[in-house]
Amino acid sequence: MKKIEIITSATLYNDISELSTEDKALMSQAIESRETAYAPYSKFSVGAALLLDNNKIVLGNNQENAAYPSGMCAERVAIWKAGSDFPGVKIKKLAISASSKISKVDKPIGPCGACRQTLSEYEINQKEPMEVIFMGEYGEVVKTNSLLSLLPFSFDNSYL
Ligand code: THU
Repeated sequence: MKKIEIITSATLYNDISELSTEDKALMSQAIESRETAYAPYSKFSVGAALLLDNNKIVLGNNQENAAYPSGMCAERVAIWKAGSDFPGVKIKKLAISASSKISKVDKPIGPCGACRQTLSEYEINQKEPMEVIFMGEYGEVVKTNSLLSLLPFSFDNSYL
């Protein structure tokens, strides 16, 4: 028996103004997309923006439903849109922003576990990491170099 350590790393920015021009533009698109989320139940709006290798930007936001589990997260709306409209085109970056009508979201909001799992399949298939950049409505922004750095011991199709 031995203990192992899994180390991950990220860059923490004080706010969106510290991002590179490209990252700031992508995050601005995520913020804009967040504004049209359909989140009447949670009042928690999330916007996601993907930058593809062909320089197209694909947006998504959370879409809730009166049958709560039938709703969907912004990240999966965006990735499935990309997979559907641009099959096989690599994803360079994903930016995410969240806000709430109930409270101030001033912490970086990372993608949920189910979204990480879904996104990981795209990263593995494209054989190149996608950067993930996330924030709340205000304040700090986290940037990771890959999706898999957010998902240690992940499950993938090599196990099937
Ligand atoms: N949500 C996302 O869109 N992305 C996440 O990664 C976490 C949660 C949405 C789902 C739901 O509409 C609302 O936020 C509250 O959970």
